[in-house]
Amino acid sequence: MENSIEALRAEFINEIKAVDSLNDLEQLKVKYLGKKGPIQNLMKELKDVPQEKRPECGKFINDLKVYLSSQIETLEISLTESEEKKQLENEKIDISLPGKKRFVARKHLISQVLDDLLNIFKEMGFSVQYGPDMDTDYYNFEALNFSSDHPARDMQDTFYISSNMLLRTHTSNIQARIMETEKPPIRIVAPGRAYRNETITTRSHVFFHQIEGFFVDKQVTFADLRATMDEFLAKFFGPDVETRFRPSYFPFVEPGLELDIGCISCKRAGCQLCKQTGWLEILGAGMIHPEVLKNGDIDPEIYSGYAFGMGIERIVMLKYGIKDIRLFTENDLRFLQQF
Ligand code: FA5
Repeated sequence: MENSIEALRAEFINEIKAVDSLNDLEQLKVKYLGKKGPIQNLMKELKDVPQEKRPECGKFINDLKVYLSSQIETLEISLTESEEKKQLENEKIDISLPGKKRFVARKHLISQVLDDLLNIFKEMGFSVQYGPDMDTDYYNFEALNFSSDHPARDMQDTFYISSNMLLRTHTSNIQARIMETEKPPIRIVAPGRAYRNETITTRSHVFFHQIEGFFVDKQVTFADLRATMDEFLAKFFGPDVETRFRPSYFPFVEPGLELDIGCISCKRAGCQLCKQTGWLEILGAGMIHPEVLKNGDIDPEIYSGYAFGMGIERIVMLKYGIKDIRLFTENDLRFLQQF
């Protein structure tokens, strides 16, 4: 048996010399020290060794096992080190290379300004509500005092889905819906998209955003509308902003008006932006027509209210000096990333 042990040791020494990877070393370990390996076989053979020689042979086998294990362990440490070194060399980073620029997503300018505007109104006690983009003729027109043959319907070229369904031409449809379900006092702003079948130009698009606002309660007067508009515009455009109301016509308000601000570009001296008038139109507004209150089941003898509706794109264009409304929908990152 001693001879077999020494032969096995010599064979192992010969084989381990050729090992140069952790993978091969693992195989060598399984081959010699595994359950079906030669060391286990020697152990099994021990029972055939005469009794008096058995302890000595047992010791030899054990010594060989310890020797193989320690050789394997030593080689494992040095192979691991050299493989890690190789890996590190492969992963070497060239810190002189220019870095890759990360693109940080951000809100679209229209959404940023919508948030700002809504926050101003929230601070003033308005709550935010939403309504459907696709609505019935009733909520977009009839409930707002546009009868079916009303000429004012031509003011808003409409995309019809069917004879009764349409893409809302303004966010005033939300006004009609809310008055049906809520009772005064109602103080609401309602943002959303509006759609009109118009020619696309630098100032007009087929879809754009509006914020509708309205307040219904006992004794709401024109002075409340004026004060609310002045406060909102001062917060948004700055304390020096000048405002003026001009009479205008919308079937759902009486009196109806448009609100202008003093041109922020020329401070009313007259320039291209304000077409030399010194004033810029911001929104439509007025005192809610008694018929509209009645359609919402609100008694106009007891309650009154004001409403306003502003186009967000035009306000953003004014504030940021943007000359073409189409830039908002073209998704050109060179434009969008400026804001
Ligand atoms: C209305 O839409 C009314 N619903 C506003 C209103 C509400 C009046 C409550 C009274 C009481 P008007 O059609 O003027 O009104 O549109 C309001 C704003 O939407 C305009 O001042 C403009 O800023 C914007 N707007 C209208 N059409 C377009 C368009 N094609 N492209 C971009 N913005 C538009």
